[in-house]
Amino acid sequence: MSGPIPRVRVFPGPEAATEGAVEEWNRALRSDDTDAALADAPRPRTRRVLFAGGTTPERLYRRLADPDVMPLTAWRRIEGYFGDERCVPPDHPDSNYGLLRRSLLAPLGGDAPKVHRMHGEDPDPDAAARAYERVIADAFGATDDETPSFDLALLGVGPDGHTASLFPGRSMDPERLCVATARPEDGSARITVTLRLLDAARSILFFVLGASKADAVARCVGPDATPPRDLRPTTLPHDPPPAALVRPAHGRVVWLLDQAAARDLRA
Ligand code: 6PG
Repeated sequence: MSGPIPRVRVFPGPEAATEGAVEEWNRALRSDDTDAALADAPRPRTRRVLFAGGTTPERLYRRLADPDVMPLTAWRRIEGYFGDERCVPPDHPDSNYGLLRRSLLAPLGGDAPKVHRMHGEDPDPDAAARAYERVIADAFGATDDETPSFDLALLGVGPDGHTASLFPGRSMDPERLCVATARPEDGSARITVTLRLLDAARSILFFVLGASKADAVARCVGPDATPPRDLRPTTLPHDPPPAALVRPAHGRVVWLLDQAAARDLRA
């Protein structure tokens, strides 16, 4: 069952879209009714976030590292995880952990949130993926039958419509939370969360900038986009592309775009 229709927010340019992303970040992570009911709790519930990789989110991470944007104390109740990772060491220029470390963790220093990285350096990506499943399940105290529900999953989209490292044409075990896969263009090994995990998130935030993504955006959320037939396929489709299949049954999905990325969307 697909959840609420995704919301699409278009901004004039990357800077405005980044401020929109900060706004959606705060909306996703602020206290909710559940927490109001726990108002006398000794401290606010931990919020768990899946950070996106690639290059687009760097500008957002740097904004969030600004104490005028996010109070330093707010990071005490946030735990960070990753939507995907390249199978490289954490100090490799392609590492998604390295991106977050440079743009958010290092600037925050001792106020940085605790993050659990995927071990891209592991020579056995499948073992690393299974280990990460256990890290996530343990953090949420989830049994095998339960799907951990992240408060926020921040995602990007590639020109082919992949998200995280969920690439069109790749097989995917619909029951797994995290798997090893490979990027079709060059066969480079990746570790990625799955649609099962993304669809349990309370909030999904696609942060997409630039004309190179316009076609993928239109194929995901445009008026002529092909409706997803199966939200839990064993082979990820090309049309609609994998990013279009992220439709949490009970979560809020927002696509944050600049004008360039929204170019092919009719008004
Ligand atoms: C990765 C990401 C991937 C990324 C898109 C967009 O590891 O590359 O998880 O899904 O979000 O490919 O990448 P850019 O932000 O670099 O355009």
